[in-house]
Amino acid sequence: MKTTPPTPPTSLSSLCMVMDNSKKLGTIVFLELFCLGCLVISICNVISDVACIESERQALLRFKQNLTDPSDQLASWSNGGNCCDWTGLVCDNLTGHVIELHLGNLHNPTEDTGFPGEPFEWSRLSGKVVSSLLDLKHLQYLDLSGNNFGGQIPGFLGSLHNLRYLNLSNAGFEGSVPPQLGNLTHLQYLDLHDTLSTYLYAENLQWLTYLTKLKSLDLSGVTLSKASHWLEVTNALPSLITLSLSNCDLDPVPPLKNVNFSSLGALDLSYNTFSNSISSWIFTLTSLVSLDLSHNSFQGQFPDGLRNMTSLTYLSLSSNGFNSSIPNCLYSLNHLQHLNLGSNNFQGTISEGVGNLTSAISLVLHTTNLK
Ligand SMILES: *[C@@H]1O[C@H](CO)[C@@H](O)[C@H](O)[C@H]1NC(C)=O
Ligand SMILES: *[C@@H]1O[C@H](CO)[C@@H](O)[C@H](O)[C@H]1NC(C)=O
Ligand SMILES: *[C@@H]1O[C@H](CO)[C@@H](O)[C@H](O)[C@H]1NC(C)=O
Ligand SMILES: *[C@@H]1O[C@H](CO)[C@@H](O)[C@H](O)[C@H]1NC(C)=O
Ligand SMILES: *[C@@H]1O[C@H](CO)[C@@H](O)[C@H](O)[C@H]1NC(C)=O
Ligand SMILES: *[C@@H]1O[C@H](CO)[C@@H](O)[C@H](O)[C@H]1NC(C)=O
Ligand SMILES: *[C@@H]1O[C@H](CO)[C@@H](O)[C@H](O)[C@H]1NC(C)=O
Ligand SMILES: *[C@@H]1O[C@H](CO)[C@@H](O)[C@H](O)[C@H]1NC(C)=O
Repeated sequence: MKTTPPTPPTSLSSLCMVMDNSKKLGTIVFLELFCLGCLVISICNVISDVACIESERQALLRFKQNLTDPSDQLASWSNGGNCCDWTGLVCDNLTGHVIELHLGNLHNPTEDTGFPGEPFEWSRLSGKVVSSLLDLKHLQYLDLSGNNFGGQIPGFLGSLHNLRYLNLSNAGFEGSVPPQLGNLTHLQYLDLHDTLSTYLYAENLQWLTYLTKLKSLDLSGVTLSKASHWLEVTNALPSLITLSLSNCDLDPVPPLKNVNFSSLGALDLSYNTFSNSISSWIFTLTSLVSLDLSHNSFQGQFPDGLRNMTSLTYLSLSSNGFNSSIPNCLYSLNHLQHLNLGSNNFQGTISEGVGNLTSAISLVLHTTNLK
């Protein structure tokens, strides 16, 4: 049954016409036709469970042959059977083309203490990502996160033109991020974050400007110290909702004349080396829901501009050098759920205004000098 090709749409539409005419017929005839409808719908369900395309099966087998798979996750990837049933694959249910490849490690690196054989390490695919993937011309979703490929991110990934989602986080890649990714103009999610090493870098992010549909960008852990245009480039992405540039070796936060970031809801600039005061453009992002500026070297006064950022539910200023008292305006951010001011030199007392933070479920104020 699975190999039956999909019924041409004409037969379905003629059935719909029959069902339309049934309105003129008696109830019994109508019910019979109705049941015929049920039957056709159930046949359609079986038919839509399509077989995969032979050339794509071959491409996937070549991809597997060049990988080492210690926990044998890809055991179902073999010659027989319908490859749409293989682990991690999603086929289009009408055409049979592979549209999604979910090969992210299901375990989290923090589960492991570093010994071989622990869940995360044991589940990492390694080896070479070969260009046979390019035969999956309809691929929209590619998750290779948590594996251990080594070497550079292959530039040919930029030719998977239909990708909407690309996740290469913690996948053991190193070296320069290939600018060919700028050809993925449909991309909505790009995650290259690396919390295990800092061997990835980009000297230029100009290619990002082509990704105008991007909603979420995570380059945390990618060294960007030479990518001096990072702010102009990200500011010009019209659909961006989440921007994570934690631990990117950025310094300083440049000024920005025309703030665009029109959809931005979450900004993470933690673990960089920003110093002095926070650039004023950040305070104009009044629709931000989440702001993380922790683990930098900001100094001096509590940032007064925060008073206007009333949508914030998450705010972290921890591990900086703030040394003023806390102004009452903080307590007007009444959507805050998580507030972290820890590891600073804040002075004075906590005002009773803290009682106005009615949404708060976590407050971290330790190792400040507050009383
Ligand atoms: C076919 O795919 C669409 C979209 O991915 C999904 O909503 C639908 O339920 C699928 N139909 C069947 C019969 O699997
Ligand atoms: C992948 O592995 C197969 C079988 O080992 C080999 O024939 C092929 O050349 C490899 N492809 C690449 C691009 O290395
Ligand atoms: C990418 O994969 C990691 C690990 O599985 C996950 O935590 C992260 O949320 C994914 N990124 C996106 C944008 O979905
Ligand atoms: C897109 O691909 C073409 C051809 O492969 C290449 O010449 C071009 O530099 C790529 N564009 C970007 C932005 O990388
Ligand atoms: C701001 O966004 C608009 C609309 O998306 C765009 O036309 C304009 O070029 C952007 N300006 C800057 C400075 O990025
Ligand atoms: C706070 O820090 C600033 C900048 O480092 C410094 O100039 C100022 O004297 C400090 N103020 C207090 C009260 O420690
Ligand atoms: C807060 O917003 C008001 C009104 O938009 C503006 O006049 C004021 O300058 C803003 N304050 C700060 C500190 O950005
Ligand atoms: C706390 O809320 C009350 C009632 O809305 C208001 O009168 C008071 O000024 C607020 N306190 C602070 C410190 O914002």
